[in-house]
Amino acid sequence: MSSGTIVRRIFYVLLMVVGSVTARANDGLTIPRNLDRRVDSLLALMTVEEKVGQLVQYSVKGGGTGEKFRLTEEHVGRIRAGRVGSLLNVVGAERNRLIQEIAVKETRLGIPLLFGLDVVHGFRTIFPIPLGEASTWEPELIRKAARVAAVEASAAGIHWTFAPMVDIARDPRWGRIAEGSGEDPFLGSQMAAARVTGFQGDDLTRTDAILACAKHFAAYGAAEGGRDYNTVDISERTLREVYLPPFDAAVKAGVGSIMCSFNEIAGIPSSSNHFLLTDILRTEWKFDGFVVSDWCSIAEMQAHGIAGSPAEAAAEAITAGVDMDMESGLYDSRLGDLIGAGKIPVAVLDEAVRRVLRVKFRLGLFDNPYRSFETAREKKVMLAPEHRFLAREVAGQSMVLLKNEGGLLPLKKDLSKIAVIGPLADSRNDPLGCWDAKGDSNDVVTVLRGIRQAAGRGADVLYARGCGVTGADRSGFGKAMKAARGVDVAILVIGESSEMSGEAGSRASLSIPGVQEELVQAILTTGTPVVVVLMNGRPLAIPRLSAAVPAILEAWFPGIEAGNAVADLLFGDYSPSGKLPVTFPRDIGQIPLYYNHKNTGRPAVDTSRFTSKYIDLESTPLYPFGFGLSYTRFEYSELTLSAPSIEPDRSLGVSVTVTNVGTRSGEEVVQVYIRDEVASVTRPIKELRAFRKISLAPGQQQRVDFPLGPEALASYNRDMQRVVEPGEFKVFVGGNSRDVLESSFRVLAH
Ligand code: NOJ
Repeated sequence: MSSGTIVRRIFYVLLMVVGSVTARANDGLTIPRNLDRRVDSLLALMTVEEKVGQLVQYSVKGGGTGEKFRLTEEHVGRIRAGRVGSLLNVVGAERNRLIQEIAVKETRLGIPLLFGLDVVHGFRTIFPIPLGEASTWEPELIRKAARVAAVEASAAGIHWTFAPMVDIARDPRWGRIAEGSGEDPFLGSQMAAARVTGFQGDDLTRTDAILACAKHFAAYGAAEGGRDYNTVDISERTLREVYLPPFDAAVKAGVGSIMCSFNEIAGIPSSSNHFLLTDILRTEWKFDGFVVSDWCSIAEMQAHGIAGSPAEAAAEAITAGVDMDMESGLYDSRLGDLIGAGKIPVAVLDEAVRRVLRVKFRLGLFDNPYRSFETAREKKVMLAPEHRFLAREVAGQSMVLLKNEGGLLPLKKDLSKIAVIGPLADSRNDPLGCWDAKGDSNDVVTVLRGIRQAAGRGADVLYARGCGVTGADRSGFGKAMKAARGVDVAILVIGESSEMSGEAGSRASLSIPGVQEELVQAILTTGTPVVVVLMNGRPLAIPRLSAAVPAILEAWFPGIEAGNAVADLLFGDYSPSGKLPVTFPRDIGQIPLYYNHKNTGRPAVDTSRFTSKYIDLESTPLYPFGFGLSYTRFEYSELTLSAPSIEPDRSLGVSVTVTNVGTRSGEEVVQVYIRDEVASVTRPIKELRAFRKISLAPGQQQRVDFPLGPEALASYNRDMQRVVEPGEFKVFVGGNSRDVLESSFRVLAH
């Protein structure tokens, strides 16, 4: 028996003695008892090189299923030497088992590897992009979608997803707005918690649970000019009030890891931001998982200009609180020397290793390093019928009806001739959106196919592509116009291609690219009623389109069930219920435009020049935050509060009556906003504080109650303490952030 094998055996016996019994923790996750003792016993056996190894993560080229994959000798050598703690982008139960065997059987201590992947909105069963998912305003549904993603990813040998992406984004030029939940910290927090719970389940040791990673910490969405990776300079107040809440919510939901962001804030790149990674995350929030860098973000500190050498970059990162180095290789190549030279205390290294090991224990990897490498389950769960079913439901609920003049929608099922037109109408790839993990375009139901199936045998469904998403080629217009002539309705599926959003997908324009709007104008000249279905990863500025066509359905990138979900809505099997999680501007010049802005000393007044507005454009959005139509109509009445005034530590009851005054059943998202009228610092004109989706039959009425507790009324005062300040508050309730009923109450002084 080799000495390595002996050490490994002793270690595993020790681990079993120290305890594999589990206990429930406060955060709802099951955590192994004696975890810290198990971690410390292991740490005591480790060399500096082995410790550093736990902090190193590499990607393997061609690691995706179906791609030509070869683990290089170099990789194998590094793993065997205990110099790798985690791999990313390697997928497949069988493949990952083989690699895990190297780590477990051939390294001195047999510490299992952690396999990570970006499982952002599904693994094989692709759901709508997260911005679409947020449009459902249904955290419980999104928890279920994340659960499905975890079930599939775990079966393919994945332990860890780099999701949820919880960055608040107020600038639609930023391509990564597609990956998050939009502009609002409250909605974003609900979605963040739901996704964490969905991925991790309530027991991380379960083979179908995966570790979540809230990213990108922090304020990545505030990149200047909406340009990816760009500089951020915001106040601590804005950081805490706008950008941090979803991270806080993820930590409270028990997220096991956090990824730091590429950007700097006020001169400090996140990978070296001690205030963020240690003071806020660990000291204030008591986060006890680990922090991974973003891809090469440690090395990028040299380009940022705050590290003069790779060694300095590595030293800054570990000192700030970055535990694992994704891909840059600088921990691998520099940390050992830094420790040897006494430039980094061993205690700092130990603490980072402890955090990583703790999570590996929590995942049950030491008890079963092959915990999720089950080829039979891998085959069974992928694209299971219930997964597809849920994907269709989420897609249906994610779509937002922006306009429906004259009740053009829903379409009658007995239409005899329909034209489906546009470059995205039969696209199999674009509906998957960005970060489509192991999504396969062959699984996608295109809009054309969905409409053909739904329209039934009797209907003649004509198709013409018309033009490309980009480019100036109008040669297909003629055929498209011919298809549109004399049919009952023309459905135009236009927007952006999937690679126009996501990482490095920032745009300088918010218009519909290419000649697609011209195509719509051409079809309108045929006199056939036009319905536009939009696919895109961001709010677009579409004032002309919006004025010209009678019906617009925002479908985002809906995932593999795109066509079925679009057809469900267009033909009225399901009434649209999605609401915008982001403001739609009239023009790119209004950016940033978000509903929870400040009042200023001179709020915009149409008739007064010297107020805060543009001289060449209305100040209001085209479609406000929270907006979305249904096939029925809801009326709000009788907004009442439980008391005219409350003590600062008490809750206020807010109640409203919602009535379905239309002729169809439908779902409505009832939204509650507050405004602190006078505070020690200026407050936004509205802040979302509660919401609920309800379902009402025609004529049905429901009283909806919301408690508003101190947390809903609190804000950071001048001294940056979170308090409820006495004084007048307003409450607004409605189906979007603009059209609301209003009431007010007082918070009394203590
Ligand atoms: C870079 C992206 O910013 C991050 O979101 C992602 O998780 C990593 N690459 C790994 O793919």
